[in-house]
Amino acid sequence: MHYIQIAIDGPAGAGKSTIAKKIAKKLGILYIDTGAMYRALTYKVVKLKVDINNIEKINEIAKETNIEFRNGIIFLDGIDVSLEIRSQEVTKLVSFVAQIPEVRVILVELQKKVANNNHVVMDGRDIGSNVLPNADVKVFLTASVSERAKRRYLEMLEKNSDLTLAVEDIEKDIKLRDKMDSEREASPLIKAKDAIVLDTTLFTIDQVVEEILNILSKKN
Ligand code: C5P
Repeated sequence: MHYIQIAIDGPAGAGKSTIAKKIAKKLGILYIDTGAMYRALTYKVVKLKVDINNIEKINEIAKETNIEFRNGIIFLDGIDVSLEIRSQEVTKLVSFVAQIPEVRVILVELQKKVANNNHVVMDGRDIGSNVLPNADVKVFLTASVSERAKRRYLEMLEKNSDLTLAVEDIEKDIKLRDKMDSEREASPLIKAKDAIVLDTTLFTIDQVVEEILNILSKKN
């Protein structure tokens, strides 16, 4: 049985999750937000008040943590943590946890397991380059950093009208995360050689979705 694999990578705020969700819905297949997995583990580290530099302890936690998706909702040790993983604190610290090689080995193994048994759209930073090297479609989404920060700001404002963060703060955070994600040694944020680059500033979300579905239909 051939399972469809669609890999969507790119920097923070490029529109990956919005696009991946739409594709998954259209095709009736699973959407796996791998960033949410790194965030869930980071949330646990924060909750246990573990020092972010204590790699040994974080590895230990990673080994005994259960992270799973049920109906598209992320569960950490059996508890829905969809809201908690979006906090500013988790967002600030996630790239520190995600750069630990052992953490990546554990989460990548989980991601591969899901993709070996289901049709999936998976988004992240290393999906086309590392997690699903034989994906049917590999897309690398980009947009200028100011555009990505503006989008994130509006998205956050919509959820929280008392938002104290300014768009400049978000831009600073995005730049720092992109730098850490691109420069780390273990499977960094990188465009896979055979990925198609789509700039989401130039197209609407629906145009990008259509383009990805077109590429997929030509493959199968
Ligand atoms: O996608 P999102 O912005 O929620 O991802 C949060 C963080 O998780 C990223 O900044 C990155 O450090 C990490 N990540 C990763 N590899 C992935 C997905 C996310 O390192 N495949």
